[in-house]
Amino acid sequence: MKKLSIIAVWVMAAGLWSCSDVRRKQRATYMPDMFYSRALETYTPIDTLHKQGINYNRMPVPGTVKRGELFPFELGPDKPGEETNYQASKQIKNPLPPLNEAQMKEAERLYLVNCGICHGTALDGNGPLYKGGDGPYPVAPANLIGQEMYQNMPEGQMFYSVTYGKGQMGSYASQLSTTQRWMVIHYIKAQQAAGAKGAAKTQAGSQTTGTGQSGTTIDTTNKQ
Ligand code: HEC
Repeated sequence: MKKLSIIAVWVMAAGLWSCSDVRRKQRATYMPDMFYSRALETYTPIDTLHKQGINYNRMPVPGTVKRGELFPFELGPDKPGEETNYQASKQIKNPLPPLNEAQMKEAERLYLVNCGICHGTALDGNGPLYKGGDGPYPVAPANLIGQEMYQNMPEGQMFYSVTYGKGQMGSYASQLSTTQRWMVIHYIKAQQAAGAKGAAKTQAGSQTTGTGQSGTTIDTTNKQ
């Protein structure tokens, strides 16, 4: 009787083991391109992909606009040595309504993250990367708050330079979305207006003050 039960246990165990249908090996794959995706690390060169016949350029499809995003800047970059669009950009107004307090706070954050390292927290062109000439950055960033030229610079032209770069300053189009870049311009203009107000102790212009309410929601998370 004892023997029988031992045999029965063995038979059952063997049966269970042989019935297991877990297959460790993949036999055939339907749509292997989807199954084995090609993982691509950020900032890795993509030219090797083109050689393999893979068309991927990390850019949005031309002519498409991300949901909730502003229309793209209407001016393209100038050809080297030309200034036509840079000059024309003076006419372009900030398409965003004045920012409310929370949006202005976000604009300030974006400025401090992306621009403050060079232009300084006070916008005086003396960020930690430049440090009055002692820092590693070789050229003086624009003094956005003290210099008349920048104080009076039209917002469209600022946007142009932040989008396509200017002199030693690179483009910020891949770090900040169109909306975010216009928000930062609002922030700079507000700081300039506040600075001018402080200096002259008079009402300085009707620039964005940061307290304006807007009914429009601004999607600040988008990148373009
Ligand atoms: C790595 C340093 C650096 C960073 C970061 C930087 N800038 Fe600049 N910026 C410069 C320098 C240098 C100039 C002067 C360029 C010139 O006139 O040759 C400049 C010029 C400017 C100008 C004047 C452009 C013109 O047409 O004369 C504006 C506006 C400006 N920066 C805004 C920004 C904003 C906004 C950011 C953040 C999104 C930013 N910068 C980030 C270095 C920097």
